[in-house]
Amino acid sequence: MSAPLIIAVDGPAAAGKGTLARRLAAQLSLPYLDTGLLYRATGRRVLDAGGDPAKPEDATRAAETLQPADLDRGDLRGPAADDAASKVAAISGVRAALLDFQRRFGQARGAVLDGRDIGTVVFPEAPVKLFVTASPEERARRRHAELAARGPAPSLAEVAAEMAARDARDSARDVAPLRPAPDAVLLDTSDLDADAAFSAALRIIESLRSR
Ligand code: DC
Repeated sequence: MSAPLIIAVDGPAAAGKGTLARRLAAQLSLPYLDTGLLYRATGRRVLDAGGDPAKPEDATRAAETLQPADLDRGDLRGPAADDAASKVAAISGVRAALLDFQRRFGQARGAVLDGRDIGTVVFPEAPVKLFVTASPEERARRRHAELAARGPAPSLAEVAAEMAARDARDSARDVAPLRPAPDAVLLDTSDLDADAAFSAALRIIESLRSR
């Protein structure tokens, strides 16, 4: 029997990878995991306990005791959750605690997983790896529109600055930094809407799987 299909979708925030990964999973009848939620829920637990998300003991304890229900919380998006997630994600104990969960999820029935290190660390053997990017200006514009749709939002300049700080932290950290796997296919969505990105990804997947 062939191994269950794993599709890794990595890239920076607001590049369009979540929307794309969710649609790919539906199209291919695969389970979907937004791995950013694991880091967001871990960061939230640290904040709830009055801890410091940048402190390895606090963050690792929160990751080790994470419950599935934590992923369903309604407060995992927004600037405070973004910041806490990015801090806990730089801690090796946190990443080790969350690795098993991600692997078991994918190995059961195959999956589409989106994150930062799916193709480099979690599933380096995945047959399909997409690295989804967009220009920093376009990503800030998208995130700002997303926040504004939910209520009072920070300015575009503030969103851009916060995103640049988070990009720098995600890319510069020692453990599992954000970078494309050597065999990842780059998909730049700066000039693509969601439908065009989806079609482009399907073409890439078909061509990789027919090899
Ligand atoms: O994709 P997101 O914005 O929900 O991710 C939240 C944070 O978690 C972000 O700062 C990067 C981090 N993250 C990570 O380090 N590795 C992953 N596989 C997914 C997210």
